[in-house]
Amino acid sequence: MIPVSAPSITELEIANVNEAVRSGWVSSKGEFVGEFEKTFASFCGARFASTTANGTVALHLALLSLGIGVGDEIIVPTFTFVGTVSPILYLGAVPVFVDCDINHWCIDPDQIERKITARTKAIIVVHLYGHPTEMQAVRKVAKKHNLFVIEDAAEAHGALYRNKTVGALSDVSIFSFYGNKIITTGEGGMVLANNKKIIDKVNVLKNHGMSPSRRYWHPELGYNYRMTNLQAALGMGQMSRIGPLLAKKRTISEWYHRELDENLVIFQKEMPWARSVYWMVSVILRPIKNAAQREKLMVELMRRGIESRPFFYPVHLFPPFRKYARNERFPVVESIYHRGICLPSGADITEMEVLQVCRELNSLLA
Ligand SMILES: Cc1ncc(COP(=O)(O)O)c(C=O)c1O
Repeated sequence: MIPVSAPSITELEIANVNEAVRSGWVSSKGEFVGEFEKTFASFCGARFASTTANGTVALHLALLSLGIGVGDEIIVPTFTFVGTVSPILYLGAVPVFVDCDINHWCIDPDQIERKITARTKAIIVVHLYGHPTEMQAVRKVAKKHNLFVIEDAAEAHGALYRNKTVGALSDVSIFSFYGNKIITTGEGGMVLANNKKIIDKVNVLKNHGMSPSRRYWHPELGYNYRMTNLQAALGMGQMSRIGPLLAKKRTISEWYHRELDENLVIFQKEMPWARSVYWMVSVILRPIKNAAQREKLMVELMRRGIESRPFFYPVHLFPPFRKYARNERFPVVESIYHRGICLPSGADITEMEVLQVCRELNSLLA
């Protein structure tokens, strides 16, 4: 079976994790943690970083560090993974959903301004499936209305927006290192910021709210959202390979673009100002009309040894989030989400395997 995504792990990562285990520093203290934070911040061009247990809690901490709380409105794309939006509800804040752009599928910046009210505090953007958001336009609206911008870069390590690495283009950004991400730590996440106060706050909150200057004194309510040294050891191994991993992702996407019949599929469009990392090569299936037809196709692909993944459902369709959509329509995402699939894109996939996927998909759609 060709998996939709599998982590790429080498002896280097295994040696690193062994070293961490042998050192006895198996929890969240240990040299790999600080090293991973420094290395990843520098890779993204951000000044400060804080590792976390996963990407969802990284976003929870990011929102807390900006002082987001009950009743605050947060603009967010509805076409994203649920983990982008859940932390807004953890805080009693209110998600205000925005539709996506028809070409690159990230938030449509032209639709943000009309959603802003006196209660709006921040805009979360998501670099979806590895493609960066149109940041200039988002930042312009944010500046005009004095709003924070938060990047959810969980799927986009190394993506470029106008030649700048995502993750350092906003007030605070977050990443995920789940097993299917560009680089992995098993589970894991990171918060990046250029403002030290934000990362200082994140560091206190993720460590039970403990005072940095007085051990076991807890002036505020905190969480245990820390990454372990074992995870960071894996992360450091992955960071030493991130260049080749990103190069391979691009090659995989080139194979798909060469082999798939564009009369049958629509690719996520890489915009002139963007360099996508093609986290998952994702396509809309032109002949597919509804979710049932897509399901049938995915079952048939699986029967032929090919795993695929449906597009994310728009978050405003889920029961805990529905009421925040206020019966609004989101015509772009509603016209594509049930017709899209993500194709096998793990960094260890071979050209022969991609050719097989393309052959089967072209023939099933023709
Ligand atoms: C866009 C997006 N945001 C947030 C998350 C949450 O990250 P995690 O799974 O590490 O909690 C993910 C991924 O899983 C994601 O794809």
